[in-house]
Amino acid sequence: MRLVLMGGSLRTASLNARLLRHLARELEAREHRVSAFSGEALRMPLYEDGAGPSPEALALHAALGEAQGLVIVSPEYNAGIPGHLKNAVDWLSTLRPSPWPGLPVLLCAASPGAFGGARGLLAWRATLANMGALASPEAITVPHADQQLDPEGAPTDPRTAALVPKVLDGFLSLAARLR
Ligand SMILES: Cc1cc2nc3c(=O)[nH]c(=O)nc-3n(C[C@H](O)[C@H](O)[C@H](O)COP(=O)(O)O)c2cc1C
Repeated sequence: MRLVLMGGSLRTASLNARLLRHLARELEAREHRVSAFSGEALRMPLYEDGAGPSPEALALHAALGEAQGLVIVSPEYNAGIPGHLKNAVDWLSTLRPSPWPGLPVLLCAASPGAFGGARGLLAWRATLANMGALASPEAITVPHADQQLDPEGAPTDPRTAALVPKVLDGFLSLAARLR
């Protein structure tokens, strides 16, 4: 399958970008074709009616148009979606053909906090549902991610580490059935 991964913050030391890189390697190890968008690839001008999409928005749109699934790895800002990611999604909702209807999406988050970014994922679910994307009921969250992600982005807590392959494989079979 072709899969897009999108997420992380604009910080070079982003915990979510580190987790994203780990998930990308896990998916590649399962012989899926992966395109990853994080950091500068998600830096876009604020959406403005009448302004043209940036090259970054067009590149993400093209990748999603060919993808059978999307993995979002999102920081949680004030229990919601960070502005740069919401801005990217808003740009993509204006481009045609829309990549969102029927697109299987796996939601993931990492946070230094105890909830692992789970509250931000609720905000993602509302936005994705509005666009017609199909968010998997399962998710990957990494609490205390400043202490519980290794340098390569793999969760070190045994329960979270065991969750990753289980949720990834569940999502892959869901996406294969949907697309
Ligand atoms: C503006 C702002 C709001 C934040 N709000 C939350 C929050 O609601 N919940 C949470 O768990 N962490 C929150 N954090 C902390 C982030 O989870 C933390 O900075 C995390 O490292 C961001 O992800 P990153 O490492 O990928 O940049 C917030 C951080 C910022 C800068």
